[in-house]
Amino acid sequence: MTAKEAESVISVKNLRKAYGDGSETPTVALDKVSFDVPRGQFLAIMGPSGSGKSTLLHLLGLLDEPTSGSYRFNGKNVTSYTSDELADLRNREIGFVFQAFNLLPRTSVIDNVKLPLYYSKIPEHEWDDRAREAVESVGLAHRMHHGQSELSGGERQRVAIARALVTDPEVIFADEPTGNLDSKSGKTVMAIMQHLNEEHGKTIVLITHETSTADHAERIIRLMDGEMESDTRVHSRLSADDEFVK
Ligand SMILES: Nc1ncnc2c1ncn2[C@@H]1O[C@H](COP(=O)(O)OP(=O)(O)O)[C@@H](O)[C@H]1O
Ligand SMILES: [Mg+2]
Repeated sequence: MTAKEAESVISVKNLRKAYGDGSETPTVALDKVSFDVPRGQFLAIMGPSGSGKSTLLHLLGLLDEPTSGSYRFNGKNVTSYTSDELADLRNREIGFVFQAFNLLPRTSVIDNVKLPLYYSKIPEHEWDDRAREAVESVGLAHRMHHGQSELSGGERQRVAIARALVTDPEVIFADEPTGNLDSKSGKTVMAIMQHLNEEHGKTIVLITHETSTADHAERIIRLMDGEMESDTRVHSRLSADDEFVK
C-alpha cells in the first residue's frame, strides 16, 4: 500500500463495472476509474445521464461489487470482503442520502432517524440522544415528532440526512440529494452538507448534474461514457450559509 492509499478514505484503481449475464454484449457502465479521496474531502461527481454516476456511487458505497479493479476503504482491501463484512462496514462507516428521501410513512421524524441504529452495534441506551442530536444538527428540532406528511420536501431531505448521520459514519454518499427540491430547499440542504464537511469533518461524495450544487464541493470528478473525463479543484467554493441552524 502506498502512503497516499493509507491516508485516503477511498482509493479505487481501474474500477470496471459491466452489466449483463454473459449471453450478450455487456453494458460497460464504468471503466478505468482510478482516484483517491483524502479524509475530510468534499467531492462532487458530475456527468450526463447514463455516464455511470450512480453505478460509481453504488460501488463506493459497498452496495454493489465491481467486475474488476480494486477498492480500498480506510486502507482495507474491501474487494475481498464477504457480504456480511461489507454490510457491517457499511453500517458503521457509511451514510446514504438519495434523491427520493426513502423515509417510512406514518413514522415520526425521530423514529425515522433512529432506524439505522437497529442494525448497528450501538448500545440501545444511546439511541434517543443520538437521534435527537442528529435531528437538531439539520435544524429540525421543532419537527421532532411530526409525521412525514407534515413536512416539506426540503425538510424530508433533512430528515434523510439526519438518518445518514445518526451512526456517525466516516463518509456520506449522496445521489442527487437536491434533485427533487426547489432551489431554496436545495440551497439549505447543500449548506447542511457543507457544514457537515467543514465543521464535523465528514468526507462527502455527492452526485449532481447542477454546477451550482457542485460548487459547494472542493473537487469535481466528471464522468463521460463510464470513464473519467476530468478531475479538478473548485477554486471559487461557495461558503455555507448557516441559515438552517435554528
Ligand atoms: N442494473 C443495471 N443493469 C444494466 N444496465 C445498467 C444497470 N444500471 C445501470 N445500467 C447502465 O449503466 C450505464 C450507467 O448508468 P448509471 O450509473 O445509472 O448512470 P447515471 O447515474 O450517470 O445516470 C447506463 O447505460 C445504464 O443504462
Ligand atoms: Mg444516476
